[in-house]
Amino acid sequence: MNYRHAYHAGNHADALKHAVLLALLQRLTAKPSPFAVLDTHAGIGCYDLGADEASRTGEWRDGIGRLLEADPPELADYLAAVRGVAPSYPGSPELTRAMLRDQDRLLLCELHPDDGETLKRRYAHDPRVAVHRRDGYEAIGALLPPKAIGRGLVLIDPPYERGDEADAVARGLQTLVARWPHAQLALWYPIKDRALSWRLHEAAFAAGYEKLLAIELTVSPEDGLHMAGSGVVLGNAPYEFEKTFAPALGALHAVLDRGGGHARVAHLARA
Ligand SMILES: C[S@@+](CC[C@H](N)C(=O)[O-])C[C@H]1O[C@@H](n2cnc3c(N)ncnc32)[C@H](O)[C@@H]1O
Repeated sequence: MNYRHAYHAGNHADALKHAVLLALLQRLTAKPSPFAVLDTHAGIGCYDLGADEASRTGEWRDGIGRLLEADPPELADYLAAVRGVAPSYPGSPELTRAMLRDQDRLLLCELHPDDGETLKRRYAHDPRVAVHRRDGYEAIGALLPPKAIGRGLVLIDPPYERGDEADAVARGLQTLVARWPHAQLALWYPIKDRALSWRLHEAAFAAGYEKLLAIELTVSPEDGLHMAGSGVVLGNAPYEFEKTFAPALGALHAVLDRGGGHARVAHLARA
């Protein structure tokens, strides 16, 4: 396992994923009944953008750095959530934790031994959060459905460094739909080689989702070689999410585009 999210925290892909995540959480908190979130690839929860790792790549400057400076009103809630934990920068666990009520639960999985340990220490004091130093795909079968909670969300955010990552995602999705069919799914993917996104969309349909919503943001032209952007595919998406999220996506595109990128929300059809 070579991937460490500390080098990439706050980049354009994080911004898209986290803005989508926050909007999904806002919908979940609109009802009083409890919800659970499983974050299968959690990272360390919070990042220091001034630290050596983030400084070496500087990716955050063209991501959250630009957004905080431009401060578009369409992203006010997301940027408030980011500012809420300053001087740290929040990863998906911290953004989610900030939205939990007493009745809600957050299940976090992180396989990297050091990062898993950091995460465990960070949330040891919060009884609503359970940290598992284990494989996130296996956890889908082992931890779901959550006890006594009917609603929720599964965020799958792999590093895609393994050659067989898409196969692992495909198996994870099959298990997820079998065990917790009504849960919302948010699956992140890089946009580089389109074969990967097509394969993942196909895997989600094969798992049994009737409808899928793909939200994509590229910040440079797609050349098949470099990561031009990323996408999040949603299963069991909230009602009219594509409409309510459109202004935020437009703002992400307006601020983060380096020329030649695009923003897209699309209902996917089975091939
Ligand atoms: C893209 S990062 C996660 C970022 C995090 N979701 C966020 O938005 O802040 C992917 C993480 O998955 C971890 N990881 C890789 N393979 C895993 C697996 N099979 N199960 C659980 N974690 C894994 C990596 O160590 C890395 O920390």
